[in-house]
Amino acid sequence: MAEVQITVTRNGPYHVKGPVKLVDHRGNEIPYEGDEVWLCRCGGSQTKPFCDGTHRKIGFQGAIAVPVKAAGESS
Ligand code: FES
Repeated sequence: MAEVQITVTRNGPYHVKGPVKLVDHRGNEIPYEGDEVWLCRCGGSQTKPFCDGTHRKIGFQGAIAVPVKAAGESS
């Protein structure tokens, strides 16, 4: 099975690369072309669930780094 990679882009969408099936809340397939898709993370897209570039217009700031636990903090 091919590996799927999801990249949290810098201040932008989730870039999903690999053979995935995208479905809505009812399980209906949402078609897209190719083997990669950019999913809106800012909430501003007019073409949700896809990114339409609005994140740039609204100045979306998203965290991308893996949180680092404070020294001495347990999980
Ligand atoms: S992340 Fe691009 S429009 Fe929302």
